Order: sequence, then structure tokens, then C-alpha cells
Amino acid sequence: MKSASGPQRQWRRALITGASSGIGEAIARRLAAEHVDLVLVARRRDRLEALSSELGTACEVLVADLAQPEQLETVADRLRSTTSPVDLLVNNAGFGAVGDFLETEASSETGMLDVNVGAVHLLSRAAGSAMVQRGSGAILNVSSIAGFAPTPRSATYGATKAFVTSLSESLHIELGPQGVVVTCVCPGLTETEFHQRAGYRPDGVPARTWQTADEVAQAALEGLAAGKAVVVPGRQNKAAVAAARLAPPRLVRRAANRLATLNNK
Ligand SMILES: NC(=O)c1ccc[n+]([C@@H]2O[C@H](COP(=O)([O-])OP(=O)(O)OC[C@H]3O[C@@H](n4cnc5c(N)ncnc54)[C@H](OP(=O)(O)O)[C@@H]3O)[C@@H](O)[C@H]2O)c1
Repeated sequence: MKSASGPQRQWRRALITGASSGIGEAIARRLAAEHVDLVLVARRRDRLEALSSELGTACEVLVADLAQPEQLETVADRLRSTTSPVDLLVNNAGFGAVGDFLETEASSETGMLDVNVGAVHLLSRAAGSAMVQRGSGAILNVSSIAGFAPTPRSATYGATKAFVTSLSESLHIELGPQGVVVTCVCPGLTETEFHQRAGYRPDGVPARTWQTADEVAQAALEGLAAGKAVVVPGRQNKAAVAAARLAPPRLVRRAANRLATLNNK
């Protein structure tokens, strides 16, 4: 295996949360093509089993609801295994919801915090400890460009992604010198089941803004191999993030409000 900072790092076994659709499935397909063994995690067993039998690599199916503490702990235990170690964790599972903050269902919001924040936190600790002990490994966290600016009418979702990006950048600095690469990918609009599940109708968004799940997976894995801290796939998304970081916060809030009104009518 090459050094943690070197390009074209080869992984032996990756655990991917949210591998049953979208970006997680696309990452699984790309890693399988590189003959990486996989541990596929999500709730929909039928999807995971179908993917597992289709991919030409060794796959374990681990059905778990990451919002349920006992099931989350099973996934963490799998990451701590010394007999069959995982050297790449992909924290990808997540979901969003659209609605006025005070009108959203409390249980759905709590579930979002559990999956988008709690699971990423616990699994990063479990995998990070095991990898630091071995002196090598990697964590790829799937965040969002939504974490760089306010997201009115998806307030909790944007806040969860700001957490993931911030945690990832800190861990990149902390764990890098101990042989563990931490990379965070921040996609923009991506063609998956995400928007339908979130009740989000991005009607006013030009078609060229969208990326495929495979484009995001490719950018994420290339960024990880290059040892990057943060990867923003796509020129439009890069421009949006640069604007959010450089513009006066008052203007960013005004633009965020306009976007929320346009897209969530
Ligand atoms: N699509 C976009 O435009 C976009 C943009 C930026 C960031 N993202 C991020 O990309 C990641 C992947 O989303 P996607 O776009 O690929 O959407 P997706 O197709 O809906 O996939 C979401 C995945 O997360 C899993 N998941 C959700 N809740 C779970 C739970 N409680 N326990 C275990 N697994 C759970 C789902 O599996 P099961 O339902 O089978 O459990 C599914 O595999 C998310 O973190 C999302 O925030 C998406």
C-alpha cells in the first residue's frame, strides 16, 4: 500500500453506508471495478443483495438503520474488526427534508440528526481508532454544498452538512499525520432518490446544474486518492461555494432566501 499522502492509493476493503442507491451505490460500483472488497450498509436489504450479487467483488451485506443506536453499534463493531479490517469508511448515508423549521415533524428532524450527524460521528471514531492503530486508512464523508451557506426551509439539513464538513476538515488535520486520510466531498444537485424522498422540487434549477451520481463518485474517489481535504465536484458548484465563502454574509443570506423561495414554492 502506498503512503497516506500518495496518489492512486489502493483499498482492500471499504464499508459504505447508504449503498442501496444514489451516490453510495455509485461509489460501490467504482470501488468494485477496482477489486476492492465491500461492506454494503443500508436499510433496504433487497437493494443491497441485488447490488452485491451484481458486483464482481467480495461483498458483505450489513442491513442497519443508522438512526437506531443498537444497529449503528453493529456497524461500528464491524469497523473495529481486526480479523477482517476495513481500510476505507465511506460515510454517505443521509437524507434531507423541506419545510418551515417550526412546522417540520420533530421525529423526522431527530432522525436526520441521528443519521447525518450522529452516525458520521460515531463511525468516524470507530474507524479512525482502528485505522490509527494500524497506521493507515481513509474516511470519505459525503457532505453537501448546502453546508457552506444558510438553507432556509431545509435548516436542519444544511446544519447537519455544515457539521460534516467542519468535522472532516478538523479530522483531516488531526489524523493525516497518523496515516489516515480524511476527505469530504460536497456535491451540489445530484440525480438520485434524494429529492423525491426529501419532498424537494428544484423546478427553477437549470438542467446543466445537475450531476450524475457517478460523476460525484468519480470526483470523490479521485480527491480521496489525491489526499484532498475537501472536494467540490462540478464547475458550477465550485463557483457557488467560492461565492458563499467570499461574499459578505448579508448578501449570502439574501441569496439563500431567494433560492429557497424559488425552489420550494
Ligand atoms: N442528491 C443530491 O442532490 C445530494 C447533494 C448533496 C449531498 N447529498 C448527500 O449524498 C448522500 C447520499 O444521498 P443520495 O443523493 O445518494 O440519496 P439517496 O439515493 O436517497 O441515498 C441515500 C442513502 O442513504 C441511506 N439511508 C438513509 N437513511 C438511512 C438510515 N436511517 N439508515 C441507513 N441508511 C440510510 C439510504 O438507504 P436505505 O433507504 O436503504 O436505508 C440510501 O442508500 C447523502 O448524505 C446526501 O445528503 C446528496
